[in-house]
Amino acid sequence: MSEDADALDENLCVGSCERCPALVDSRSQIVEGVGPVDADLVVVGEGPGANEDEAGEPFVGRSGDVLDEAFRDAGLARADVRITNCVRCRPPDNRDPRTDELANCRGYLEAEIARLDPDLIVTLGKVPSEHLLGRSVGITAESGDVVDARLGKASRRVLLSVHPAATLYDRSQRDGFFETIARAADLIGASEGSSGQSRLGEF
Ligand code: URA
Repeated sequence: MSEDADALDENLCVGSCERCPALVDSRSQIVEGVGPVDADLVVVGEGPGANEDEAGEPFVGRSGDVLDEAFRDAGLARADVRITNCVRCRPPDNRDPRTDELANCRGYLEAEIARLDPDLIVTLGKVPSEHLLGRSVGITAESGDVVDARLGKASRRVLLSVHPAATLYDRSQRDGFFETIARAADLIGASEGSSGQSRLGEF
């Protein structure tokens, strides 16, 4: 087991970390992943914003409201989904996490996902999509695609999505985002009227 896997507690939390000096300065707390440790579905965002930094929970601001609405529409309960981020500390001035910061936090994310062993990961936006896939992603064009990504020792199914915030500044992204989350529910067999069987094998 990696050092980062050992660092996670039974709730898959890091607890303390000082690897990224700029983030240690800008955060008020570490924002850990939330949700069941046996969730079938994991959504991965970029990193906490101001609201999340204050609340200590991912996706609680306006983006979180959109995400919750899309979950409800898809027949998913937020409480059943593991919600986490590529970096667990708020970058200053809401800038994107830097490559070194993403790398510093990657072991925690890989360890979290290894322990969860989910049916499906949804990447919310360009940053987590590129981080998990290790290539550049045209997120608007690729949103809704299911691809395989190597995470730690395992290959994982990843459904690419635009970030929920994109729907706030570009209304035309909303239907596509909701359809992608509905697709996630379908893929894990959680959508209404589903037989309960995962259809991942079809993709
Ligand atoms: N945006 C993210 O990518 N993650 C959060 O937790 C909140 C907003």
